[in-house]
Amino acid sequence: MVDLKAYLAVRRERINAALDAVWGENSPSTRLVSAMRYSLTAGGKRLRPILCLAAAEAVGGDSADALPAACALELIHTYSLIHDDLPAMDDDDLRRGKPTCHKAFDEATAVLAGDGLLTLAFQVLSESSSREAFRAEAWLRVIEEIARAAGYRGMIEGQMRDMDGETHGLGLKELEAMHRLKTGALIRAAVRSGAILGGGTEDRIDRLDRYGGSIGLAFQVTDDILNVEGDPSVMGKAAGTDATRSKNTYPALLGLEKSKAFAEHLIQEALGALAGFDQKSDPLRAVARYILDRRR
Ligand code: IPE
Ligand code: IPE
Ligand code: MG
Ligand code: MG
Repeated sequence: MVDLKAYLAVRRERINAALDAVWGENSPSTRLVSAMRYSLTAGGKRLRPILCLAAAEAVGGDSADALPAACALELIHTYSLIHDDLPAMDDDDLRRGKPTCHKAFDEATAVLAGDGLLTLAFQVLSESSSREAFRAEAWLRVIEEIARAAGYRGMIEGQMRDMDGETHGLGLKELEAMHRLKTGALIRAAVRSGAILGGGTEDRIDRLDRYGGSIGLAFQVTDDILNVEGDPSVMGKAAGTDATRSKNTYPALLGLEKSKAFAEHLIQEALGALAGFDQKSDPLRAVARYILDRRR
């Protein structure tokens, strides 16, 4: 059995140290960098990088080999949150227990801080591919995976549908597709990238892909549930906002009970995909359950 709390704490610390190192010693202390670092260090769960490292280990690899990809995923995720919170999008004031980037700085700075984090992610990835020429091919594959997942046919398209959906209700199929894009795609890419960099076989990558797809969707279903019944002081962000903004969510469409049952079903599906993996994938099993039980 994995002591999940300790595991997550150790992994978070390692990822935070690696993220700190991304800036290097002579990084300028400009307003832009302050805003980028403000959001990055505000206290996220680091779930995507943790999944990336855990997937590398699940296929028998060394998680250190996936660390730059883990950092890149968190940089992209943080940028997406900064932009998601802008007045033009969800217009939120609190994120990771602190004022959102545009509140702490201003809107222009928040837009640019997001842009800066996104491009920095691809700098980190491409630097890894030049540094590790012996496995440049794996890095190039990961760059493509992450670019596709974060891009206009992945997370960005999901965010577009989320915004468009504020004016009309989506059916169940459309809601699922939107959630798979806006949140599922990057989580899936985190797992796939870890599996690729860990040297996993195509068969293992495929099976972990199914795991990633299921937990990625489940993660957004639980985010929807927490927006209804979560504690803002624990979550570090507001509750009740989805209803106010007429967002398409699972609780709005199915009610809380059916949404919880669906999330549970997805987690079982994810655990099923791990059948045949040895104890090195226990952290992935524990994280799947954590996605269901989390309070933040
Ligand atoms: C929040 O993501 C936004 C969604 C995609 C649901 P997280 O819940 O992973 O946020 P942090 O990184 O812990 O702040
Ligand atoms: C966030 O979705 C998804 C992305 C940032 C890509 P939400 O808008 O539902 O997440 P929260 O509730 O603000 O964290
Ligand atoms: Mg949103
Ligand atoms: Mg939001």
